[in-house]
Amino acid sequence: MIYFDAAATTLQKPPQVKKALLYAMDHYASPGRGGHRPAMLASDAVYACRQELAALFEAKPEDIVFTMNATHALNLAIRSLVSAGDEVVISGFEHNAVWRPLNQIGVDVRIAGRRLFDRDDTIEGFRAAITENTKAVVCTHVSNVFGYVLPVEEIAALCREREVPLILDCSQSAGILPVSLRKLPAAFLCMPGHKSLYGPQGTGVLVCGHALRPLLAGGTGSLSERAQMPEFTPKQSCSILGADYRQEPGTLHEGVRFVRSVGLSQIAAHEKMLAQLLIAELEAMPGVRVFHGAAQTGVVSFLLEREDVEKTAARLSRQGFALRAGLHCAPLAHESAGTLQSGTVRAGFSVFNTAREVRELVRVLSC
Ligand code: ALA
Repeated sequence: MIYFDAAATTLQKPPQVKKALLYAMDHYASPGRGGHRPAMLASDAVYACRQELAALFEAKPEDIVFTMNATHALNLAIRSLVSAGDEVVISGFEHNAVWRPLNQIGVDVRIAGRRLFDRDDTIEGFRAAITENTKAVVCTHVSNVFGYVLPVEEIAALCREREVPLILDCSQSAGILPVSLRKLPAAFLCMPGHKSLYGPQGTGVLVCGHALRPLLAGGTGSLSERAQMPEFTPKQSCSILGADYRQEPGTLHEGVRFVRSVGLSQIAAHEKMLAQLLIAELEAMPGVRVFHGAAQTGVVSFLLEREDVEKTAARLSRQGFALRAGLHCAPLAHESAGTLQSGTVRAGFSVFNTAREVRELVRVLSC
């Protein structure tokens, strides 16, 4: 099986991640819940992971909250900043993990910038949409469908100017593109641990530049005599809600260490090279529509004009390729690109994919 669905989750993990998982199963108990050795080892692993993530996102270790996934991180961030009736500005490329919580809360959602791969249009869209009543801006860094890299520095500058907090969805950029909590600055950075940070599924990260409102209440291992949740972050939310147990921080730690040791620019360049190769080959193929632009990561959407996208993906699956087809939980992005009716087939590369694998896909598609 040739796996091209890293935009959903990375299947191949660095060997040290698997090793850490096995070590954690044998050695870690609940962190922050005891002074015995297995609990202390787990606490150390949690802290080491926080330090590694803080270094990657230019934050402090205490800004790092472990969550179950990016959806959980986004819900925490959104619900910490907005309430029913508030005005919120989002891009035209958001995932349902942003769109649906906002609609569930009953927010007045304004969509800014709908032209795919047009960074000027995106900037102008945000400039026009942010008003003095805007409570928050929520924006994806990279479209999960098209790999479009949104101009988040410019959007952050607009937010700074208008004093509006920014929530950045880094689901497709964490571990690939540099993001700095401090430099933007952002109120929150939200991401999964299991995509390009190469951690296990069931992990996510929320980097907090703003106070957090917990979604659930329960035991935190601190201030237990009180009936209310402790005020301080990150512990009140991560220890009852997130991946703050046993194997997850140790394994995620190894994933993040791997990313930092290879280097973001090397990872991004490798994935972009694979994307460019696929785009060039598909463009030369009759009856294929491929979506591409200058600001693009290693995510490529395409469709065969005479075949339903689900059929293409099913056929490729039988031929040994894993690609995701349909709307990718991002109807807004498809609406913006004009592919809401058809959907697309998406190839999402990781650092473990090779040019030979891409050529193999092209060979099969051209048959
Ligand atoms: N959001 C993930 C994807 O794009 C699951 O496939």
